[in-house]
Amino acid sequence: MPDTPLAVRITGLRFRYPDGTVALDGVDLEVQEGERVALLGPNGAGKSTLLLHLNGLLRGEGEVRVLGLPVRGRALRQLRQQVGLVFQSPDDQLFMPSVFDEVAFGALNAGLGREEVQRRVHQALAVTGIAHLAEKHPDHLSLGQRKRVAIASVLVTDNRLLVLDEPSAGLDPAGRAALLELLHALGSTMVVATHDLEFASSLCTRAIAMRDGRVYSAGTVAELAADPSLFAVSEAAL
Ligand SMILES: Nc1ncnc2c1ncn2[C@@H]1O[C@H](COP(=O)(O)OP(=O)(O)O)[C@@H](O)[C@H]1O
Ligand SMILES: [Mg+2]
Repeated sequence: MPDTPLAVRITGLRFRYPDGTVALDGVDLEVQEGERVALLGPNGAGKSTLLLHLNGLLRGEGEVRVLGLPVRGRALRQLRQQVGLVFQSPDDQLFMPSVFDEVAFGALNAGLGREEVQRRVHQALAVTGIAHLAEKHPDHLSLGQRKRVAIASVLVTDNRLLVLDEPSAGLDPAGRAALLELLHALGSTMVVATHDLEFASSLCTRAIAMRDGRVYSAGTVAELAADPSLFAVSEAAL
């Protein structure tokens, strides 16, 4: 048995939104350290809801352990420094008055010194191709640019687990290719929700498919992509 803890271990996770929608209906999922797992499935399958459990932004019934720790209570602070989460919509994530401040926030929060913060911010802006936007207000950027800011803002800290919700959506082809190259080079464990099968097959070592709040299949991206029902809208969603 390996003695490194699983990066993610989810058992029997159920989550219901306040309006009564059951978004997760008994999810079991294990991710080993070093894996890059694609989370596939149609709109409404529960992918984003699941990802928001990985750093405790949502809390359902069942057990969620990340990097060997329960995602609750006193472990949360430590976990949030090791889990980088990029939201599906950058507008849910960005809140600082400039791109520089936004990207610096996580590094400052992690207690890094001023010079180290500066160095990391410049590096993150450079690899995401937005160095020229450092002084702009995030509200004044295009969607693809805001997405890059959101990605840069998690790259400034050393994440053992990266959780990315539709990272390639809204990016132009050059931005998408650059992101792919960057993620390949990072070497962290990743869980990536995406509809971009080419992106997933090039990045991810394994895929799981969700529908109606459940994981119903696992395999390689190619295996799951061959299943015609992968993105079919379920009857429950109609
Ligand atoms: N804030 C919310 N309030 C109520 N229902 C929600 C909310 N967010 C998502 N849902 C519902 O939860 C289900 C799962 O949504 P989501 O996790 O966003 O799926 P996916 O990311 O796979 O498209 C859907 O039925 C969706 O309509
Ligand atoms: Mg989603």
